[in-house]
Amino acid sequence: CGIVGYIGNKKATDVLVEGLSKLEYRGYDSAGAAINTGESLQVRKFKGRLAVLEENLKNFPVEGNLGIGHTRWATHGAPSDKNSHPHLNMDETIAVVHNGIIENYMELKEELMSEGVVFKSETDTEVVAHLIDKYYKGDLFDAVYKAVAKLRGAYALGITCKDYPDMLIAVRKDSPLIVGLGEGENFIASDIPAILKYTRDIYLLENGEVAVLTRDDVKVYNENKEEVKKEVYHVTWDVEAASKGGYDHFMIKEINEQPNGVKETLVRRLDENRNIKLDNINLTKEDLDKINKVYIVACGTAYHAGLVGRYAIEKFAKIPVETDVASEFRYRDPFVDENTLLIVVSQSGETADTLAALREAKSKGARILAITNVVGSSISREADDVFYTWAGPEIAVASTKAYTTQLVSLYMIALDMAMKKGTITQEFYNQVINDLENIPSKIEEILNNSDEIEKIAEEIKEAKNAFYIGRGLDYYVAMEGALKIKEISYMHAEAFAAGELKHGTIALIEENIPVVAIASQGSLFEKMVSNMEEVKARGAYVIAVAQEGNKEVEKAADRVIYIPKVNDILASILTVIPLQLLSYYVSVKRGCDVDKPRNLAKSVTVE
Ligand code: G6P
Repeated sequence: CGIVGYIGNKKATDVLVEGLSKLEYRGYDSAGAAINTGESLQVRKFKGRLAVLEENLKNFPVEGNLGIGHTRWATHGAPSDKNSHPHLNMDETIAVVHNGIIENYMELKEELMSEGVVFKSETDTEVVAHLIDKYYKGDLFDAVYKAVAKLRGAYALGITCKDYPDMLIAVRKDSPLIVGLGEGENFIASDIPAILKYTRDIYLLENGEVAVLTRDDVKVYNENKEEVKKEVYHVTWDVEAASKGGYDHFMIKEINEQPNGVKETLVRRLDENRNIKLDNINLTKEDLDKINKVYIVACGTAYHAGLVGRYAIEKFAKIPVETDVASEFRYRDPFVDENTLLIVVSQSGETADTLAALREAKSKGARILAITNVVGSSISREADDVFYTWAGPEIAVASTKAYTTQLVSLYMIALDMAMKKGTITQEFYNQVINDLENIPSKIEEILNNSDEIEKIAEEIKEAKNAFYIGRGLDYYVAMEGALKIKEISYMHAEAFAAGELKHGTIALIEENIPVVAIASQGSLFEKMVSNMEEVKARGAYVIAVAQEGNKEVEKAADRVIYIPKVNDILASILTVIPLQLLSYYVSVKRGCDVDKPRNLAKSVTVE
């Protein structure tokens, strides 16, 4: 989501719309604004792109120099006019825009409802407006502090109150928020591009800080209401660079967002006792006992995630699983009936092939579980149960953070099924959850080592062909690695099950051809090393990916990328990271259009 707020002498709606247009990359299923005219709060909010709000404001202008605006990427509650921000208290004198998640909103909502508050939306944000109202006794600043003290979760807030036509309040905790400093005007925004047209001087708010903006002044306070002295940060980059958060491309930004994406996907589904709580999935033990077959169906990168998912579900929940590409699944007349569970995986939730497979299976009575990144997407609407990956908007065509969050989602679904069916012990469950919780910091470690991978990219960048090999889970990651390098650098690459290579494809191995060998699986390690030796003996340039400590791999490789030690079952979430980085650097070095490769689309809505 994106937030913009303005106080000054310009027409607030102009500034808000301009600012929000620079934040649309953060998500865009609805947009809204509240303008404080001094007499009332004028609110406009609509489902759809920012253009819908813009059109309305053109036809029915709102005068006023103080306002807050928002573009939404739905989390709680489907995209709709009423779920769009801003949200208001009951007498519509306090308006709030929010970015983040209020984790305890259910609890707060129930409490407020018991006190007579009537809610208009399904969002977690609305509780904030009512809470401020509850504590408001004429001092907005004080009421905001009291309300915020009740909130658990992540939030960046912009707040305006009818009684304060000269004040805008902003709060930040775990969600980005900045203050822009102008002459006779000041701004708030979730991200720098939103305000770069007006000012380059900003305050970067820290967790727990509250900013109070008037036209001529900005004061920032800490959690204890003490004023803090902020340093002015002067922005030197342009708008293009700013929306990429200082990165050269969206892809590398998104690769770097993976520790956070994985964490979000995980922690939001664990209760205080670390039990999995799948909010939108109602598969009971009885439902699961009926299911005798699971299909995972998807396209592209999501299909590769599905292959790992098959492994996890079979291993944990002991149900037979088949993974298939969506465009094939439909036409092979699969055995689907009311005892089938179909899991569709789709970042966009709009892929036509996947949607068609879903409809086909549904018509035969299958239960449909969707894993998607886009709330309110077609696939999420047509599925019986939905698991949202919390990757945030993915802009680069080549998928990275969607893949790793899809893996985490599939592991969680597999664990949940297994616990319900009683096929794993509590101890095993605890171990896997614990290992999953440690994944984000391990991804971080790999990312910190990206210079090494860039060097390897330099070595192989001229190659015409490459092979990716692995066994077991590593084979599926090899497939994803090969797809990634093909998509964005146009290097021809193929993935093979390492043991299968000798049955034909090894004929293609010649002097200096890069072979990326993934060797993370302990039980398959020795066999894998033999396969590497086979290709190395024939002149291949072998780049291995192995777990730290497995030095033996060095004898069969020219280069080794070590990943931190990890439970073999979860290794795919880590081994894919160096492969993403390798593709990225090769693409950059070959001068390709990294974020928008030729011939490809982010979401393919034709079959
Ligand atoms: C397109 C994209 C791929 C993506 C695939 C599936 O082909 O270029 O990167 O993996 O669609 O997309 P979905 O949104 O269904 O995950």
